Amino acid sequence: MFITFEGGEGSGKTTQVRLLEERLRGLGYRVVVTREPGGTPLGERLRALLLDVNTQVEPRAELLLYAADRAQHVAAVVRPALAAGVIVISDRYADSALAYQGYGRGLDLAALRHIMAFATDGLQPDLTFFLDLDPQQGLARCAQAGKADRFEAQALAFHQRVREGYFALIAAEPERWARIDADQPLAVVQGAVFAVVEERLRLLQR
Ligand code: TYD
Repeated sequence: MFITFEGGEGSGKTTQVRLLEERLRGLGYRVVVTREPGGTPLGERLRALLLDVNTQVEPRAELLLYAADRAQHVAAVVRPALAAGVIVISDRYADSALAYQGYGRGLDLAALRHIMAFATDGLQPDLTFFLDLDPQQGLARCAQAGKADRFEAQALAFHQRVREGYFALIAAEPERWARIDADQPLAVVQGAVFAVVEERLRLLQR
């Protein structure tokens, strides 16, 4: 099973990924946790470039760097793990490119889908969580944590377009997505995430 987490800045994805990993391991499942950008040695170098506030990058170049990161990640980490029967949990995946570079930057969505299909060789997640939080709140959480990467420095309007983008992606493919209100205590979010995963695992084992 391939599970991905999506969400805006400060939505708590990374914490929830870790909590889900622990819970599944405790139940005896083999789990690989990974992330985009990153997840491979090449990807971690691309990540450093992509998040650096000093990087000047045009939208199309930005998209292609994320696509290169993703192609490496799928071929070197995700597919081999899935082939070995391991549950893969990725902190962000191709939906991030549709939301950020498509809806956020305004790049053509049809072109973007072709590039994503090429980069991933058609690999789609089985289940995707959207940890939904008002961008104003999310950015405030990041500011509090002293975080300010290249995206956190974008205007609020950009983050609002990203969120609307996620809503459109969910509406187009509701069976793959689970939207969870991230403006709730951590344990409540965790419980909601786990309930969905448990249900999917039960269906798989039937
Ligand atoms: P991440 O480390 O998940 O940031 P955060 O934990 O702050 O949410 O992701 C890094 C940034 O990269 C994030 O702001 C979204 C952006 N991004 C894209 O614009 N396109 C993509 O395809 C991916 C994977 C990430």
